[in-house]
Amino acid sequence: MLIQWSEALEVGHPIIDYDHRMLVNIANDLHRAVKFKQGDESVIGGLKRLVQYIETHFAREEALFLDTRYPHVEKHMKNHRDIEKLVHGFLIAFETDPRAVDMEKLLNFLKEWLIKHIGKLDKGYAPYVIHAETKTAYGRRKGFV
Ligand SMILES: [Fe+2]
Ligand SMILES: [Fe+2]
Repeated sequence: MLIQWSEALEVGHPIIDYDHRMLVNIANDLHRAVKFKQGDESVIGGLKRLVQYIETHFAREEALFLDTRYPHVEKHMKNHRDIEKLVHGFLIAFETDPRAVDMEKLLNFLKEWLIKHIGKLDKGYAPYVIHAETKTAYGRRKGFV
């Protein structure tokens, strides 16, 4: 297993925590496909799921920033764009020539990035967003509170 889910990774927002668990699961599946040599197609499938879910999750977080008028978005969104580019680049490179991609390096990076991004940037916005949602009809309508 690449990443063991733990309470330390929880930010306290149910939808965001669900997304993060999904990302950890996808990263672990990808790790398994590489470790047990399940073939290039499995790795490509895993990378595609990763690219897709990263996009879905970032869009969800950024919609929350907008809806709750969270102010500290610049660095956070820049990090999202960088990761999207990087992971998409890995997918293209792997599809072009699987032997040219150091999957070990990608997986280690992914692990460090997830733990750091969730632990610092995501935990940084969560209390603000949760608080803002509990105060607004928006939060109630969406079933967040
Ligand atoms: Fe996140
Ligand atoms: Fe984020």
